[in-house]
Amino acid sequence: MREHDFGRRLTQELSTPQTDSQRHLEAMVQVSRALGTIMDMGQLIPAILKQVTHTFCADRSSLFLYDSENDQLCAQVAEGLDEQRTMELRLPADQGIVGQVFQTHENRLIADTWKDPHFAKRVAKATGYVPRSMMVCPVFHGIHNVTGVIQVLHSDSDHFHETDMGLLEAIAVQIAISLENAQLYEKQKRQFSSFVRAFSTALDARDPSTQEHSLNVANLAQGIGYHLGLDFHVLDRLRVAGLLHDVGKIGTPEAILKKPSKLDPDEFAIMKEHAAYSLQILSQIEFADEYKDLAMIASLHHEKLDGSGYPFGHTADALNIETRILAVADIYHAMTQDRVYRNGMPMAKAFDIINDMTPHQLDGDCVRALKQFLGYPNQLAA
Ligand SMILES: [Fe+2]
Ligand SMILES: [Fe+2]
Repeated sequence: MREHDFGRRLTQELSTPQTDSQRHLEAMVQVSRALGTIMDMGQLIPAILKQVTHTFCADRSSLFLYDSENDQLCAQVAEGLDEQRTMELRLPADQGIVGQVFQTHENRLIADTWKDPHFAKRVAKATGYVPRSMMVCPVFHGIHNVTGVIQVLHSDSDHFHETDMGLLEAIAVQIAISLENAQLYEKQKRQFSSFVRAFSTALDARDPSTQEHSLNVANLAQGIGYHLGLDFHVLDRLRVAGLLHDVGKIGTPEAILKKPSKLDPDEFAIMKEHAAYSLQILSQIEFADEYKDLAMIASLHHEKLDGSGYPFGHTADALNIETRILAVADIYHAMTQDRVYRNGMPMAKAFDIINDMTPHQLDGDCVRALKQFLGYPNQLAA
């Protein structure tokens, strides 16, 4: 028996109900702290497993989630003793100990798996790890369907006790709440994403000659941001800002938007109003915190560092990296895309013009990053 196991057992043997309650409370606080703020499923599941394994001095834990399409329970489990290498394990939802717990909604405390008729030796063979003690608990709370099953394992027999099982039951409720929150958050993000995409597609469709302009600006802006080493959240904000930057063109008369020739100065003045309209429209949307300032970022895509742009004529000090990126992405795509009255410029010509505008009007780092993203000038040799 390992030293910390011995100490833990001794504590359990000497413990009063009050001490158990304290230990439970302490573990629950730790679990709530560890899981309460994680909304990303990719981070949440490893955090759950780490916390559960640590709480019960276990070898490992597995969280099986129900896949209703295939009627299977699915988990990422460690291969052998190497926790870094994982494999996907899929089990029929009514087989083995995990399937039994999933079906009955009743937890199982198993002192010795070899004596249990439901123990699936083939799983032990597949993973290269043989557990002897096992706690298995359904993951659900309230009236919701069972989301999955948590399994806690140790290679010694008789490692877990009733008090552990009680604590795991309480932790499983916290896990279910965390999973539901994360799933809800992801669903909201997907809804927001599809709304933004539909909105920008509808906008681009107004003018067939600039079709997919918003999508292309979004992709270019993300590419520039990536080569500037910006983090994931900024790249995501750039994508949304790119998709929505020209939303103000909803207010631009169709005769101007679809004019099959160059705009005269009066028409161009009307066209320029779209940037201010973008700000007006986007300012009315209550964006989540991660998209804070999106209305401003999106609507400054025609500003120049020397103050010669529009709608405000801001200078460098007032233009952050995201607005500078969007300005470069927008101007590059506007020059290179085909219009009814002209073909898009070749890449080299567009970069000649962009080079002339850099650094007094366009940000040099952003232009360099765009060239890196597009493989320019290597692209020309290809
Ligand atoms: Fe624009
Ligand atoms: Fe644009």
